[in-house]
Amino acid sequence: MNTPKPSKLTQSPAWKALQAHQAEIAQVQMRELFARDPGRAREFSLEAGALLLDYSKQRVTGTTLALLADLARQADVEGWRTRMFAGEHINVSEDRAVLHVALRSAQKVFPAGGDVMPLVRKAKQDLRAFSDAVRRGRLLGHSGKPMRTVINIGIGGSDLGPRMLTQALWRHADAPQAVHFVANADPDDLARVLTQAEPETTLFIVASKTFTTVETLGNAHLARAWLVRALGSEQAVKQHFTAVTTNLAAAADFGIAGERCFPLWDWVGGRYSVWSSVGLPLAIAIGMERFEALLAGARAMDEHFLTAPLAANMPVLLALLGIWYANFFGAEAHAVLPYAEAMRELPAYLQQLEMESNGKGVDRDGQAVDYATVPVVWGAPGTNSQHAFHQMLHQGTHLVPCDFLVPVASTGMAAENALAQGAALMAGKEVAQPQRRFDGNRPSSTIMFKHIDPHTMGQLLALYEHKVFVQGIIWNINSFDQWGVELGKEIARTLATQPAGGGAIPGLDASTNALLARLRDWRT
Ligand code: F6P
Repeated sequence: MNTPKPSKLTQSPAWKALQAHQAEIAQVQMRELFARDPGRAREFSLEAGALLLDYSKQRVTGTTLALLADLARQADVEGWRTRMFAGEHINVSEDRAVLHVALRSAQKVFPAGGDVMPLVRKAKQDLRAFSDAVRRGRLLGHSGKPMRTVINIGIGGSDLGPRMLTQALWRHADAPQAVHFVANADPDDLARVLTQAEPETTLFIVASKTFTTVETLGNAHLARAWLVRALGSEQAVKQHFTAVTTNLAAAADFGIAGERCFPLWDWVGGRYSVWSSVGLPLAIAIGMERFEALLAGARAMDEHFLTAPLAANMPVLLALLGIWYANFFGAEAHAVLPYAEAMRELPAYLQQLEMESNGKGVDRDGQAVDYATVPVVWGAPGTNSQHAFHQMLHQGTHLVPCDFLVPVASTGMAAENALAQGAALMAGKEVAQPQRRFDGNRPSSTIMFKHIDPHTMGQLLALYEHKVFVQGIIWNINSFDQWGVELGKEIARTLATQPAGGGAIPGLDASTNALLARLRDWRT
């Protein structure tokens, strides 16, 4: 990469003030801050709806937060927030509005300048009617039997959200159907799920915004062949397949009837689409009332994001803390640690949300940036993670800020463990033997809530969505495109269409050509 030119951001007064402040505060120990200020835990905590955020174990003072808020103001976060909610085309590279918030809006008309609510309401009605019909056993298969298995075929944003929530909300799932998710291009994924399904009673949902994604189409065709072979009729496709897509023509070509297609729109990004018909498998699993509660939770967080002052705005705070470490401490990773087995898929969901949105190296004007953007987001459920990689979090050489997500309803020791980890990371322990010493001063936020329920999960996901938005604004990047996934897809198409024995592919490097030749050789 060429050396980028100094950007407006890194030359700005707010940025320079933060750099100077970081130099002053870098050696300050959090345990000293706690000792000095008995009110620190209260002062650096915030409640919004069901969520309690404690960010007192962060390397910040009141001055840090004031300077970070200046950075947000300088970037006009509030103005951009208004623009997003007004339906302006803030996804500039694709010339699209960014209106996933409409999917959970309760307004009659929204946004004022280009009402999409009639579309949203109709789609929700259809979702309700269809999911009810499946749940009540009124949707019959080719041989007249009700559906007992639902298999969602999709990838990325057409998979991760409903997969994660169906898992997280399993205690709220009361459908008679088993709901499965298939994403991987490796046919093993589908094969494993099909062993648990009967063709006569299986409903496939092909979820693909574009209906061109090769993994999804590959799996959909395999599923179709499995069904037709077993039921002996192409006609079965109409009864056993449903689509969620913007591309109705391609779904029709596949054989999915128009009345079985649920719409999506170009103003909903894939990774922001769980609130739409992409949530169909979840709506089947938990029922539409609970799906509405999920939307209501997200709406409550939208309201908070829109109205709370910057300094007491939960998504803004999370965004600013992330920027503080990524841009002023050089942190290259951020850990997400849900202390709940049910939430085990959340890190994967947030990886797409954060890294596909803000994993960008050029700004909105196409200039290379001279500052870090999103760090590596990773994680696993605690307490398992403690016995896998927390060693590195406590004593490793990298600074990895952590988010502990802590539902308190479970009676096991998980929540206490989460609090213990945050305490240990912050305070450390002075021991003579270096190997046993914990330096501490390792930052974390704790987000605590009572239950893993639809309303709380809605709030939590919207919290992270808006965090990502605020960071994108401050980094002056477009969080809503994903051109970085295209090149690999293009090359994969070339490799897949190269006939065996076809020789080296011109323009492709020698290593990949040699590996491809060996792959073909070993496969035969
Ligand atoms: O390849 C990345 C991506 O485009 C994601 O942004 C998207 O969520 C996923 O693929 C699936 O796309 P589609 O829903 O169009 O199949």
